[in-house]
Amino acid sequence: MNKANLSVFASGKGSNLLAIHKASLDSDFPGQLKIVICNKFCPAFELAKSLNYETKLISNLDIKNFEIIVHKELIKQKVDLICLAGFLRVLSPEFVSKWNNKILNIHPSILPLFPGLKTHEKILSSGSKIHGSTVHIVNEKLDSGKILGQFAFAVKSNNLDLLIDNIKKYENLLYPEVIK
Ligand code: GAR
Repeated sequence: MNKANLSVFASGKGSNLLAIHKASLDSDFPGQLKIVICNKFCPAFELAKSLNYETKLISNLDIKNFEIIVHKELIKQKVDLICLAGFLRVLSPEFVSKWNNKILNIHPSILPLFPGLKTHEKILSSGSKIHGSTVHIVNEKLDSGKILGQFAFAVKSNNLDLLIDNIKKYENLLYPEVIK
């Protein structure tokens, strides 16, 4: 099978990175992970290193210079699809248009509800009884590109850590399926 070359961008714990890695071990998965980009030292960076992926830590740069370096790396690795997986930096419209329709993001809310940051806190304070997550194409506007996959589940407790753990279990199933 001719596989698409993937890049994961991450800034966090790396559970979605791990899920994409595990999915890619299946011969039926249509993508292979070529390079992991992190904008700060984080567990996802250590995970990518430990899995022996080409891994770049590019921190302390403004977005323009960050993107210049990243773009070169992506071209070098012949990347077809960028998967933002807990990547907490907003990409510029110029970068997004260079990679038009080739950047996916996973966002922890049922978009178009609760775009932006601190979605779990917003859900809990809103009293909403459902929460969920969305995989969408990245466009120039934050968290507003075409939705490709989504799930929702019942919020049964007000415990923030439990909510985050719970959402990630579903995200780790959803993201590889959407990439497929
Ligand atoms: C995920 O829950 C993802 O939806 C969220 O960050 C977490 C990363 O977890 N993304 C955003 O908040 C993007 N705005 P991970 O590092 O364990 O994959």
